[in-house]
Amino acid sequence: MISQDLNDTITKTGPGTPAGEVMRRYWQPAALADELEGKRPVVPVRLLGEDLVLFRDEEGKLGLIGRRCPHRGVDLCYGRLEDNGLRCPFHGWHFNREGQCVEQPGEPEGSRMHENIRTAAYPVVEKNGIIFAYMGPGEPPAFPDFDCFRAPDTHVFAFKGLWECNWLQALEVGIDPAHASFLHRFLQDEDPADSYGKQFRDKAANTEIPMTQLLREYPRPEISVEDTEFGMRIIALRHLDDGRTHVRVTNQIFPEAITIPMSREMIITQWHVPIDDENCYWYSMFTSYGEPVNKALMREQRLKEHRLPDYAPLKNARNNWGYNPDEQARETYTGMGLDINVHDQWAVESMGRIQDRTEEHLGKTDTAIIRYRRKLRAAIAALGEGKEEELPMRGGVDPATIHGPAANDTLCSDGDWQRAYTEGDAARRAACTGWDATID
Ligand code: FES
Ligand SMILES: [Fe+2]
Repeated sequence: MISQDLNDTITKTGPGTPAGEVMRRYWQPAALADELEGKRPVVPVRLLGEDLVLFRDEEGKLGLIGRRCPHRGVDLCYGRLEDNGLRCPFHGWHFNREGQCVEQPGEPEGSRMHENIRTAAYPVVEKNGIIFAYMGPGEPPAFPDFDCFRAPDTHVFAFKGLWECNWLQALEVGIDPAHASFLHRFLQDEDPADSYGKQFRDKAANTEIPMTQLLREYPRPEISVEDTEFGMRIIALRHLDDGRTHVRVTNQIFPEAITIPMSREMIITQWHVPIDDENCYWYSMFTSYGEPVNKALMREQRLKEHRLPDYAPLKNARNNWGYNPDEQARETYTGMGLDINVHDQWAVESMGRIQDRTEEHLGKTDTAIIRYRRKLRAAIAALGEGKEEELPMRGGVDPATIHGPAANDTLCSDGDWQRAYTEGDAARRAACTGWDATID
């Protein structure tokens, strides 16, 4: 349990809030590149409680500027996309990619008023299907050399989805290795051959055991957490009856992402990005160490479950997330279908828009959640004292030297789980032919 004050401090990310200041020191996913594919590449973006408009101009360059026209406040999403910027349809004021007003065609000839008119503007960069924005002060940090950024576009698929809740409870489901044995339990195992593009349906590494069976039969993982340069490594050990240990390594990338294994072939790096305090998007980069990703299939699988243009899931609180008690009795732990994203979505949305942490009771399995909150509080405190370099990947170490991270499932027969997962990771990298995944 924590106090209401602390809950507010660690959940709220609008302009000027302490956690919002931390978030603004990192690149944030702002949109999928897919969203700018249409005839008119202009989309609204609400990010960290700020309303913005993202566009691609005639030269193919990206701009992210304030959504409200500084003249009299109309919505620039309806602006005329011309002259390498957006022109407000109300009185024709024109804004360039830097948010500078460069023309006021209705003002008297020779007027220089426009020189003092500026709207918000943030740097944006496109990386393997996601457009990232930097909303903080100073120079944006370098991107870490993570696999999702290093791999060629052919080996990364990006997608997103809306969750109607605060970002922190969304992140906390991703650093909770125990829930997979329950929330995502399948009472029957599917053929792992049908597992492409899905989580937890493959066989556990080097075994004939489907992950679903392993998670179901060993529900009490031993969880440990290690601090890393990028955040934390979370290790979940499941000790099998035959003496072997199943090792699952996942990662928390500060401030609000995770990197987790999806199958033997792919990992997922997923951000839980605040839209505002009561809504967030998950943005995922699925990265393959094997074949190029089948983007058409992965997109089709996910578009079936989401509505455009806002990527809102078709199952949601308004239809009880598709809850079916018969299914719950026979097929799945939740009764909410086979898509594990819906299970996680129910878990995080049914808590309420902002989880009331004054009423929670954390157990031993919540160790990574406790450690993460400490880390976030430490970052808030450091920033409050002007010690930005104490934030992960901000000044202490060059992000470009941060690789990986290792995210996999392995089996270990001799108890040396560190060696098992590092060797498993190295072997997968060495076998990767589509791109150089090796780490020196
Ligand atoms: S409101 Fe935009 S130009 Fe007048
Ligand atoms: Fe989950």
